[in-house]
Amino acid sequence: MMTDSIHTSGLLKSAAFIKGVWTAADSGETFPVINPATHEVIGQVPAMGGSDTQRAIDAAAEALPSWRSQTAQARANLLKRWFDLILLHQKTLARLLTMEQGKPLAEARGEILYGASYIEWFAEEARRIYGDLIPGHEADKRILVSRQAVGVVGIITPWNFPNAMLTRKLGPALAAGCTVVVKPAESTPLSALALAALAQEAGFPAGVINVVTALHPGPVGEAMTADKRVKKISFTGSTQVGKWLMERCAGQVKRLSLELGGNAPFLVFDDADIDQAVAGAVLSKYRNAGQTCVCANRFYVQSSVVEAFVAKLSAAVQALKVGNGMDPDVSVGPLINTAAVEKVKNLLADALQKGATLELGGGVHELGGTFFQPSILRGMQANMRLAQEEVFGPVAPIFSFETEQEAIALANDTDYGLAAYFYGRDLSRVFRVAEALEYGMVGVNTGLISTAVAPFGGIKESGFGREGSRYGIDEYLDKKYICLSI
Ligand code: SIN
Repeated sequence: MMTDSIHTSGLLKSAAFIKGVWTAADSGETFPVINPATHEVIGQVPAMGGSDTQRAIDAAAEALPSWRSQTAQARANLLKRWFDLILLHQKTLARLLTMEQGKPLAEARGEILYGASYIEWFAEEARRIYGDLIPGHEADKRILVSRQAVGVVGIITPWNFPNAMLTRKLGPALAAGCTVVVKPAESTPLSALALAALAQEAGFPAGVINVVTALHPGPVGEAMTADKRVKKISFTGSTQVGKWLMERCAGQVKRLSLELGGNAPFLVFDDADIDQAVAGAVLSKYRNAGQTCVCANRFYVQSSVVEAFVAKLSAAVQALKVGNGMDPDVSVGPLINTAAVEKVKNLLADALQKGATLELGGGVHELGGTFFQPSILRGMQANMRLAQEEVFGPVAPIFSFETEQEAIALANDTDYGLAAYFYGRDLSRVFRVAEALEYGMVGVNTGLISTAVAPFGGIKESGFGREGSRYGIDEYLDKKYICLSI
């Protein structure tokens, strides 16, 4: 049931947003947004394609000259106003997010705050886009370096964090002076449209932020990558689509930031505080029903503590309540769709067939639909698909190891390099392991590393570019060197 406050808030939109106007698709077609917990239709949005994307790019290109030439203070003021409005509507945005994405309401409220923190952070950073004055290489030369907005940016975001994945791109892009065309995931467009409605209320000029909704993302991606006025694409999603975008951008040497898949290892050494490790494991693995790119995907536990770790993890996981995220007691919501359930089932079946055993869960929850039992697998081996593939579901596969060298080698044995975690208290090992792990982010004695003040991003096939922190704005700026002869 849709709650009244969402209906009356003005934040439930059924149109896309181009050039400051709420608009239908050129084709007139729409598609439904489905609540993954109840399967109810919660809204209809335009099914846009290439021509609509072109309209959005026209709008962004038209708005660019005046937006990028505003003072940093003016852009920062608008971002701050938007931040305030997001906080004011936190509860409504969170309910909308839970309804279209499924995560528990407490997590959704947390995501709205987390998402807003990127807008606040980059509102502050807007005024610190400094340049350099470099001593000249000849007596009459002065070398100036300025940092200028890249231009129109195409932003493509996933369904697992419908709010925060957007704000952590929009915050730096807008602060830098770029204008944007956003394509939110087809499962979760409503949070993006609600953010656009609040941006409109905050007073962003028409065309600075444009949101194109689409059931089939291909034509939108094709239009964004083919148009020379789009100078940069920022994408969060699968490695497969990231590679496709890279190929499409190569023709124009278009700039790209890619935050792609992960295969995070979670190591527990024999000197770890096991209770702390279990708390971190639950947070890292079961947050958002295991549907985050930084979720622990493989647990490597030193053999002398594996029994203690599994016993305590099992007890903690049995206490998790599965259900509709709108229920305040629920800590694990549904998976996003039936394809996600099939993927998790297949990976579990592969491990069981190759000799793993079930400690807990192992199938669809008694609630049916896309609810999945929080699961733990033991006896995992390197030849099982779960060792290499991102499960994106509430399944913790437990491997064991004997030595530090073995643990590091196993942890690094993947094409991905987004996040890694480990627990241990020996200080020299903490530094050794943190430095040896081939990942963009490492959590030591913590299962939660996400914050607007740190550089989020990966290496290897997990992508490149950083979001958040003082580095995040560089993704939306070009350096210009001016050689001045006096
Ligand atoms: C992600 O899944 O890509 C983001 C997770 C986070 O920011 O914590």
